[in-house]
Amino acid sequence: MKNTPFPGYFISFEGIDGAGKSTHIAAFADHLKESYPDREVVMTREPGGTKLGESLRDLLLNEPMNLETEALLMFGARREHVAQIIEPALLAGKIVISDRFTDASFAYQGGGRGLSLEKLNALEKWVQGRADGTLLQPNLTILFDLPGSVAQDRRSQVRSPDKFEQLDLHFFEKVRQEYLRRAKSDPDRFHIVDATQSKDAIWAGLKSLNIILK
Ligand code: TYD
Repeated sequence: MKNTPFPGYFISFEGIDGAGKSTHIAAFADHLKESYPDREVVMTREPGGTKLGESLRDLLLNEPMNLETEALLMFGARREHVAQIIEPALLAGKIVISDRFTDASFAYQGGGRGLSLEKLNALEKWVQGRADGTLLQPNLTILFDLPGSVAQDRRSQVRSPDKFEQLDLHFFEKVRQEYLRRAKSDPDRFHIVDATQSKDAIWAGLKSLNIILK
């Protein structure tokens, strides 16, 4: 868990498609509301989170596009999300829970599709940079980790795939490896969940996370 200059607390959930994060996000938000009844909990997602961001989400998930265009639109949507929703909420002391944030761009556009780290780092700085030279980052990122093949089996059982979910196993393995690299480079921020465990075991682990609010 990372200390940030904000009175609020920012949590992102990440993982390859089919890792099971969505199942736990709402329950985790309820758990935090119960634990901290005086704090407002804001639930949001990426791509999306604002009216503009949701329009961009529709394009991003359904239209084939050039890799650079995709990364720029992801970060464009993110800039709006940070400026309109995330930063004001954190300044007001709220708890923000986002279903995906910047690590997803490193994992999917970087690891999966091959955009250079240099470009991703520049975009991250541009979109999350603050006047004091720091980056706005989650205090805690919960990464649902599992092999691409297990995730693929799960996905095929539950829904028809969007643009990203149609990609092959090799793509998801690269996405997974980039998530793990990001986690390794920022261990204070990341909590890795072994997503091959049962739902109950995962939930027990999440509930026991020690979240300390200011
Ligand atoms: P996801 O969050 O899994 O939503 P749902 O559960 O409704 O399918 O889907 C979002 C997709 O967008 C997912 O495949 C990952 C992708 N994505 C990126 O490629 N880059 C990004 O920066 C973000 C935020 C998401």
